[in-house]
Amino acid sequence: MTWIPTFRHFLTFLQIGFLFIIAVLTCNSFFAFLESSSAKDSPHPLVNESRCNAWEKNKQWKNLNFSTPRNTKLFMKLEDFFWKRYVSQLSLPFGLKGSEMFLLKVLAATASYEMPAHIENLKCKTCVVVGNSFAIKNSSLGSIINKHDVIIRINNGPIRGYEKDVGNKTTLRIFYPESTSTNPLLQNDVDTLMVLVPFKPPDLRWLKEILYDEKRVRRDFTHPPPLIWQVDSSKVRVLDPGFMYQTSKQMLRIKFPSKHHFRPSTGLLAVYVALNYCDVVHLAGFGYPPKQNHKQPVHYFETYTMQAMKRSPHDLGLEGQILKRLEKAGALMYLHPHL
Ligand SMILES: *[C@@H]1O[C@H](CO)[C@@H](O)[C@H](O)[C@H]1NC(C)=O
Ligand SMILES: *[C@@H]1O[C@H](CO)[C@@H](O)[C@H](O)[C@H]1NC(C)=O
Ligand SMILES: *[C@@H]1O[C@H](CO)[C@@H](O)[C@H](O)[C@H]1NC(C)=O
Ligand SMILES: *[C@@H]1O[C@H](CO)[C@@H](O)[C@H](O)[C@H]1NC(C)=O
Repeated sequence: MTWIPTFRHFLTFLQIGFLFIIAVLTCNSFFAFLESSSAKDSPHPLVNESRCNAWEKNKQWKNLNFSTPRNTKLFMKLEDFFWKRYVSQLSLPFGLKGSEMFLLKVLAATASYEMPAHIENLKCKTCVVVGNSFAIKNSSLGSIINKHDVIIRINNGPIRGYEKDVGNKTTLRIFYPESTSTNPLLQNDVDTLMVLVPFKPPDLRWLKEILYDEKRVRRDFTHPPPLIWQVDSSKVRVLDPGFMYQTSKQMLRIKFPSKHHFRPSTGLLAVYVALNYCDVVHLAGFGYPPKQNHKQPVHYFETYTMQAMKRSPHDLGLEGQILKRLEKAGALMYLHPHL
């Protein structure tokens, strides 16, 4: 007798298939759960994913009153030149006008333009921007800082000898040529991405000369950048100058074209970048010495005081107010007490 499938058999097959799919999915998510809980040790009460909900995130960005969508693509890409002609009305640090050829050569040499996949693929990215302020001294925040998915450090802020307060992991090191040193590995991890913030055309020229081992041109810098720079070219990124432009426009409310000599500090720029890229933004090492305390150093690793900052091109008072407003709006959180 031959077996003739009926409609009822067909339904049973469907049911079995359905159950099988459910079982596979359940197993997968169970193993994914195991993996994620072993990859990341237990969440710290300050560094957890409770604020990571797409709706919340969107609402939060809207509440910041920025008239621009979130941009999670941080770095310049070679394709930007091939698929759309890169037109920029502004020159560095706000745009690329006049620096296109330097950048093109730099991007051809670095050949990687992304964040590492293990970070990019996270559903919820917890970030900490570690500033260089003296406020981080004796904070013992090192182990909390290390628990974040993305740890952003600024310029030459060291870690060796300061691990207890500042941690020892670095995902992104935001720098400009004068603020870096011959061997960045001394103060970073092997997989730290070195993110150039180009302030002026010579900054990109410097990077091009390093990557192609060309003769170094030493003029046009406030002080000489390193002539030798021991960094794997695949770990080099160039921050999209659009972030400097948007930080100035959206946060400092500078109107372009501007004769203003003020521009955002690298710290404020890093905060704006984190707000764009991350789901949770924490700050450590932000803040300047109180006015009445002339003797307190500005940085945790250097002794100079506010006296030396008098000619700074940053509006530090305004930046402080902006960070305070973002804190009140729930967009970011300080990991230590601050003014
Ligand atoms: C998660 O973090 C929030 C603050 O961001 C805190 O209020 C909450 O208690 C934390 N939850 C856990 C389970 O640690
Ligand atoms: C955004 O604008 C609203 C309305 O003007 C204001 O109440 C709110 O404080 C602003 N948010 C921030 C973060 O500045
Ligand atoms: C940090 O702690 C050390 C050792 O306890 C102490 O000597 C120093 O004064 C402290 N510095 C600050 C800024 O609190
Ligand atoms: C950070 O410190 C911990 C504990 O001392 C160590 O296991 C780890 O390898 C260090 N990581 C880096 C990137 O230096």
